[in-house]
Amino acid sequence: MAPYSLEQLIQEAGKLPPIPQTAMKALTMIRNPDTNASSLAKVIGMDQVLAAKVLRWANSAYFGLENRILTVQQAIMVLGMKNIQELIMNSSVSDHLNRPVPGYELARGELWQHALGTAITAKLISKKRKLNIDEEAYFAGLLCDIGKLVFEKVLRDANNISPEMASLPFQDMERLCFGFDHATLGAEMARRWQLPDSLVSAIAYHHEPQMTSSYHILVSTVHVANALVMIMGIGIGIDGLRYPLHEESLTRLGLGEEDLSEFVAQATEQLSHAKELVRIG
Ligand SMILES: [Fe+2]
Repeated sequence: MAPYSLEQLIQEAGKLPPIPQTAMKALTMIRNPDTNASSLAKVIGMDQVLAAKVLRWANSAYFGLENRILTVQQAIMVLGMKNIQELIMNSSVSDHLNRPVPGYELARGELWQHALGTAITAKLISKKRKLNIDEEAYFAGLLCDIGKLVFEKVLRDANNISPEMASLPFQDMERLCFGFDHATLGAEMARRWQLPDSLVSAIAYHHEPQMTSSYHILVSTVHVANALVMIMGIGIGIDGLRYPLHEESLTRLGLGEEDLSEFVAQATEQLSHAKELVRIG
């Protein structure tokens, strides 16, 4: 019998820090074309930690600006909404992902690198195919494996798991012990966090894009990105080659082998830059 139900695991997930409300509000505002730098600065300013981070990023050597940025509004105007949006997204999930996940044989930072790599690649796919889902694909890529954190915590804390179960590899435990996997659990967490339906679907079906009934393009994009990052060997732990790349997704997105090699090369370069920024955050 499964030691935990989906509902119990969701309660466990509730003990994880949620995506900060200010970050969510700021992200919604950035999606609205009528939002200006001053109104966004006001919202970011309500969260001192986030405001301090924005200023730290803006003044970092990474952006190499000549003049010192003194206010959040200035930072938004100089860096642009898109940069600010990505920085907020990264920061809002880094607390979750930037820690060791021993159950999946991932050292500190590996799940985080995998998430960043998937986000970057998903956005590259969107840009290349002009899908117009750049930022959505990025955020879905960042979050798609978030369910792993809860499984890992529960199984590590559990004292009611039989020795036979405890000896199972983690990837088998997900479905065998609980009857669902990290994708289903992650999607449920995203739903409780009131993230948009498109993100919920992308998380739910990132390994089984053929199963989704909606948001096919976004789901396929995140699927291909996630599979490519696995093939690149970034933050895969014991999941390794367990999850295949579904050819239908490539067809749906109109991608060929040359495109994939291009994504791998570009994502590798962008990931090393992104890691610099995360360290600053
Ligand atoms: Fe996954």
